[in-house]
Amino acid sequence: MKAFPDKPLSKQDIYEIAKTYSRNDNEPLSGRMWGHIYSLGLPEDVIEVSMTLYNQFINKTMLDFTVYPSVLRFENDIIAMASSLLGGNEETVGNFTFGGTESIMVATKSARDYFLKRHSSVIPEILLPVTAHPAFNKASDYLGMKVTPVKIDPERTTVDLEDLKSKLKENTAMIVASAPNYPFGTIDDVKALSEIAQDKKLWLHVDSCIGGFLLPFLRDLGEPIPPFDLSLEGVTSISADLHKYGYAPRGASVVLFRNSSYREGSIFVMSRWPGYPIVNTSVLSTRSAGPLAAAWGIIHGLGKDGYRKLANRILNTRIKLTNELPKMGYRILGKPLGGIVSFTSEEFNLAELPTLMKGWFIQYQPGSRILGFPKSIHLTIAPGHDKVVDEFLRDLERATIELRGKRLTLPPLQDFNDLQSIARALGIEEGKLPSNPTLINELMHEMPPELVENVLKLVINEYVFRPSRS
Ligand SMILES: Cc1ncc(COP(=O)(O)O)c(C=O)c1O
Repeated sequence: MKAFPDKPLSKQDIYEIAKTYSRNDNEPLSGRMWGHIYSLGLPEDVIEVSMTLYNQFINKTMLDFTVYPSVLRFENDIIAMASSLLGGNEETVGNFTFGGTESIMVATKSARDYFLKRHSSVIPEILLPVTAHPAFNKASDYLGMKVTPVKIDPERTTVDLEDLKSKLKENTAMIVASAPNYPFGTIDDVKALSEIAQDKKLWLHVDSCIGGFLLPFLRDLGEPIPPFDLSLEGVTSISADLHKYGYAPRGASVVLFRNSSYREGSIFVMSRWPGYPIVNTSVLSTRSAGPLAAAWGIIHGLGKDGYRKLANRILNTRIKLTNELPKMGYRILGKPLGGIVSFTSEEFNLAELPTLMKGWFIQYQPGSRILGFPKSIHLTIAPGHDKVVDEFLRDLERATIELRGKRLTLPPLQDFNDLQSIARALGIEEGKLPSNPTLINELMHEMPPELVENVLKLVINEYVFRPSRS
């Protein structure tokens, strides 16, 4: 086991070790990653503002709003600005959180408590389109709720309204729409859902984590963005991540509520202990104010004009991708309206494509044969991808030719009689990432989803997150 160091190391040594650790990392600002990075292509002076404020406020905490008035000011400013962008009005309130998952957790907690005040002694249920982010399943898990999956239309890849309506029950506490969803970048019919929510007096949360700071600007550019935000009367809450298309450093998201009565359940207070009264509007308590200040700085550094320019660059790349990919034999999933394009193929096996696309990061989505989800490749577009998209498409064309000739042989699933033997077959060793990504990709598509989940849990618990040995 790696020991706690007795003596301090020199600065140089520390940096050197960190450099060695990061030798095999992807490089977020290289332009080679179609995912996990949004701020690629941001103007230099805006990056400087963000980094400066991040460092200036890094030691201030958001724990106690009475200690640092600036922190409260930043938060209230950000909520007001986000609200003005997302159809809010004088009644709208909101909370700053450290990410999409936390915003969703906070909204779901509010929805649960709102529901339980009116209907006691039932397990509140979320009707969740299968394309919605698993943060809702996680929230439901933490909050003792139940998730009922709702089908999507396989062509449009958006929520199947009839299926949703057929699943509405007494204990339905929340319905969810994505604007857009992560897997395919398509937008649910939020207007129709809003009408259902109003009619049935239901909580509708719109997850616009990956669209909230992009869709309004794409609309300004003339894109056909349907209504998706608080301007629809039936929308109760909406989440939007500043650390995605808000281009802020990680640790920045907002959740907005139609009015303060809906926010009540998100506020945690406790004064029955000998310490200071705890007042939290988020899951986390002590948090650095760095990400908050940086996000505030970026919004001011870009302004609507800046966001529109970046949105235009994303749009140009998206148009190129959606035009060119079908020519190579790929099928775009649904009609992407934000910054995501996903594609599948009925012709060849996508499991190996990430390996063949050497030097690029593309995200494989295994889907599930049993659940009827196709294998797909997901691309999240950043503004700076406009500089590399032609090269990317050339490389993809080459990789596609290689892919055509390939056949993948799977070890028979019945050979695996326990989770450990699956892990071994995948070449998983303690402290190392799996050695055969293609096989893993393939198995994740083929195996029953519960088995995939159990294997992943085992691998994480027994192999991946283990104390360093040296
Ligand atoms: C639509 C959507 N919702 C929620 C999340 C969760 O956000 P985070 O990873 O910041 O917790 C994501 C992340 O990609 C997302 O795309």
